[in-house]
Amino acid sequence: MIEKKLAAEQAIEYIEDGMIIGLGTGSTVSLMMNVLSQRIKAGLNITAVSSSAATTKLAGILGIKISKINAVDCLDLTIDGADEVDENLNGIKGGGGALLYEKILASMSKKNIWIVDSTKLVKTLGKFPLPVEVVQFGCNHLFNEFESRGYKPVFRKKGETRFITDDNNYIIDLSMEKIENPEELEISLKHYPGVIETGLFCGVADIVLAGVEKSVKVINKKKRAQTF
Ligand code: A5P
Repeated sequence: MIEKKLAAEQAIEYIEDGMIIGLGTGSTVSLMMNVLSQRIKAGLNITAVSSSAATTKLAGILGIKISKINAVDCLDLTIDGADEVDENLNGIKGGGGALLYEKILASMSKKNIWIVDSTKLVKTLGKFPLPVEVVQFGCNHLFNEFESRGYKPVFRKKGETRFITDDNNYIIDLSMEKIENPEELEISLKHYPGVIETGLFCGVADIVLAGVEKSVKVINKKKRAQTF
């Protein structure tokens, strides 16, 4: 948790007065929001938009006002977590089930920063199950398609029933083990009718702040060859 906290605290330094900020989802983002709420109480003026009901709920508790996504044209900066990040700064996200709205915020954002601990840095994506958000209608057919391709699909569950996303869809997690070409896989998965979004975030992150023991490794997209 200390590595996540260090990364979360460092991300705050990128927030400037007057910015429109996208708030991701997850435990690392929650740590960042704790510090952000203190800065807001101390006078920082930002507009915030949320990527999930969970983040909106936490923002309410912390006194961070959330604006509606359609009330803003674009975002200056989105700060989010990730489940895996590879050497090219491609990532898997959606462990918390918020991948669709997270990807929409990222696409609207001039800059995307991911905050992670050292366990998230990997050579090749795929050990973490890849979440795929699908519409409920016809989802069993999609499941069978994934199974026949050897993707080892599993419907995500919450207790005894299927997990339902904020957008009222299901998530099928795929156990790929190694994703050698994430861009290609993302395109191929999105060709299936019924697939809303995948947890593959390729070329999205501009900066990854990774807590590594007691310090933070800053990994910029362009300088990744030197920093990894
Ligand atoms: C939410 O759907 C995810 O994309 C999270 O950003 C990701 O799972 C990271 O979560 P933690 O910060 O809790 O590890």
